[in-house]
Amino acid sequence: MFRVMLIVGVRPQFIKAAPLLRLLDEDEEVELQLVHSGQHYDYEMSKLFFKELGLPNPIENLGVGSGSHAEQTAHILLRVEKVIEKYEPDVVMVFGDANTTLAGALAAVKLHTPVAHVEAGLRSWDMKMPEEVNRVLTDHCSQVLYAPTETAVRNLRREGIPDSKISLSGDTMYDLLLKHMTDIEKSDILRRLSLDGEDYALMTVHRAENVDVPKRLSNIISAVLKLDGLKIVFPIHPRTRNRLKEYKLMKKIKEAKHIIPTDPLGYFDVLKLIKHAKTILTDSGGMQKEAFILKTPCITMRDRTEWIETVTLGGNFLVDADEKRILYAVQRVIENPEIKDRLKATPNPYGDGRASEKIIKDLKNRWCSGRLDVSKVPIIF
Ligand code: UD1
Repeated sequence: MFRVMLIVGVRPQFIKAAPLLRLLDEDEEVELQLVHSGQHYDYEMSKLFFKELGLPNPIENLGVGSGSHAEQTAHILLRVEKVIEKYEPDVVMVFGDANTTLAGALAAVKLHTPVAHVEAGLRSWDMKMPEEVNRVLTDHCSQVLYAPTETAVRNLRREGIPDSKISLSGDTMYDLLLKHMTDIEKSDILRRLSLDGEDYALMTVHRAENVDVPKRLSNIISAVLKLDGLKIVFPIHPRTRNRLKEYKLMKKIKEAKHIIPTDPLGYFDVLKLIKHAKTILTDSGGMQKEAFILKTPCITMRDRTEWIETVTLGGNFLVDADEKRILYAVQRVIENPEIKDRLKATPNPYGDGRASEKIIKDLKNRWCSGRLDVSKVPIIF
């Protein structure tokens, strides 16, 4: 049996891992070992996704919870080490760029267990972002790197990672979205929020560089308070909820008649909202991509993005946390419905919807041929 351990812990990782989990769970040659770090623990941030996406129960929940970066990473590292020693996987798979990703990869490689990184090679070129640190370090201690796009492959090559370790897989989030188009359409979120037939924008904001900096968060809130000609659905991430209360901004949001604040929503509801929105205002990486795939123009409240294709192909506008630029971008998108039509004709850079199958096939081949051995790292000069 090929023992494959998947380490997940935050909301986007449940989404990225879901299509792989399904295939691995059904595979008779594979012993699936799913480990939840417990980085996300609220019902809406974790259990809801296991339920909706039909994910198998984790064999361990490490219950690390919240804390500073060092605390969180260190606690995951300590607990993952024990779990790897107990279950002796042949490979550990980690996803994306969270603290769970880096800690899982580091614990594994130190025990000489090969690491497979799904969503490798993404770069924002900003080492002040905790996610960038996590990505770069994880890529460089992984044995096999599944890059979702050609840009990601180029980024890895530029950093000296040999081609033998890189596989252009496509994006597993795209696989999941395609698989669930019917469930997404079935979501009754528009009716629940009284939005049937209404124009609205969907907004999310949770990045530390936006919500932990009072000036940036108040710029963003100030912009959406002014957008009172448009309904704005605003599912609030726990980190953001805490900061909005701390900076005394929550009251203003609740008082604004055009803003619809909600708890964090499930996958099908969010995807349905993205599909039917006039535009998306976000700092999430995943939503930039999902908006692009669903042909909804996206306005990203950051000064850069690792999902650069969404920008170069004309579906994503970078406006930073700048009030004037946010307002201008919303106006431009609303006044130019042809942006949406143009997106319909744009090529999709995220693969063919079979990234998960490709990853599993490639991983098995590498394992069978001994290419997952940590000691066989090509020397780079
Ligand atoms: C993490 C990831 C980020 C990812 C995001 C998706 C890192 C460094 N960041 O950020 O890349 O985009 O997940 O959501 O790993 N909290 C709760 N309940 C929860 C989870 C969090 O109340 O279930 C609150 C806590 O106050 C916590 C804060 O949110 O301190 C931040 O949570 P944390 O897991 O540290 O990072 P995220 O901001 O979620």
